[in-house]
Amino acid sequence: MNASPLDAAAPAVYDVARVRADFPVLATTVRGKRLAFLDTAASAQQPRAVIEAVADYHRSSHANVHRGVYQLSQKATDAFEGARERVRRFLGAASTREVVFTRGTTESINLVAQSWGRRLGPGDEILITWMEHHANIVPWQMLCERSGATLKVAPIDRRGELDLDAFRALLSPRTRLAAFTQVSNALGTVLPVREMVAAAKAQGALTLIDGAQAVPHQRIDVRELGCDFYAFSAHKLYGPTGIGVLYGREEVLRDMPPWQGGGDMILTVSFTGTTYNELPFRFEAGTPNISGAVGLAAAIDWLETLGIERAHAHEQGLLRRATAALSQVPGLRIIGEAAHKGAVISFTLDGVHPHDLGTILDAEGVAVRTGHHCAMPVMDFFDVPATARASFGCYSDDEDIAQLVAALAHAREVFG
Ligand SMILES: Cc1ncc(COP(=O)(O)O)c(C=O)c1O
Repeated sequence: MNASPLDAAAPAVYDVARVRADFPVLATTVRGKRLAFLDTAASAQQPRAVIEAVADYHRSSHANVHRGVYQLSQKATDAFEGARERVRRFLGAASTREVVFTRGTTESINLVAQSWGRRLGPGDEILITWMEHHANIVPWQMLCERSGATLKVAPIDRRGELDLDAFRALLSPRTRLAAFTQVSNALGTVLPVREMVAAAKAQGALTLIDGAQAVPHQRIDVRELGCDFYAFSAHKLYGPTGIGVLYGREEVLRDMPPWQGGGDMILTVSFTGTTYNELPFRFEAGTPNISGAVGLAAAIDWLETLGIERAHAHEQGLLRRATAALSQVPGLRIIGEAAHKGAVISFTLDGVHPHDLGTILDAEGVAVRTGHHCAMPVMDFFDVPATARASFGCYSDDEDIAQLVAALAHAREVFG
């Protein structure tokens, strides 16, 4: 891996300027203005170490994996399987057999729905929450349509907290799987996933955690969490797009049929029958995203060198200060006021449609996401068509907040 400027002994004080210097895009301008990138929850920017690791792989190690006896193919295989081992350590998984590479969180969840889900039938139930991303709703709706199983939804309250008692009450011996997010992308809410896993387990249900918004901000130990599945995407973790992970407990994965057929997932193929490869390759049909895996491993290395806890503390400081500053903006309503939040602030501004707001902020160099954030049920619950969402990462700083507040003042002027 390429050396990062962060490699020198970590300073006691979080030096955000030093972190920012690792991200080339943050030095660019947008419409002649300083870029205030406040859309990290959608996709994080990539540090030099990741960009270089991917480029290095392409420059000196690329070939197809698992198939060639020649040196370059072995080098690529080592890089790819090395990345799998890096992910295993990152998640605290027991074995690399439990680490399946996918395109991202969405594909990880679809894999479970399509493979594990085949055993479901009428009378079975899947429990999710009201604040799920569409990626953790639609695959289960599709599965229920196919299988006759029933989808149950645990409610949330006006602060954007999960009603944990209702979640518990909705669990029963009919519940085969509870699938829930660890951190809501639309509201920022941090869910009590340990309690939720324990409650589901007590009813004999399996659990799937959507960790897309959690992995960049907190240390994850899948064995400590006790979940059966854990899904995340590299691109929210300062890594490349098109690569993600499904962690599956070996005992559960072992019993699951393959979901896509093709090369790499088989041991033998003949017209009388095909035998399948061992874990995790059985779930990885076709040539994988090799450079993506290399980039993901580099991103994990980079973030762990920086210190996930230190980055998290920095982001929580930004969240507090930004919440205080935005609360002073006349007509601004924050959607999602849970006691424990990730570094995400969803809001509306009276008299300005979020899409118009996004356009005006963009003209001021401020990149925020506007829309339903792939969480339409959340928008319905709060009775808004859309929100604007500012989200922070390890490189976000107080200047970003000041730029956002100034741009909001400008938007209020424009819309009178
Ligand atoms: C909580 C959550 N789950 C799932 C996803 C889907 O991730 P991807 O598009 O990388 O598959 C996202 C992306 O925004 C998310 O925030």
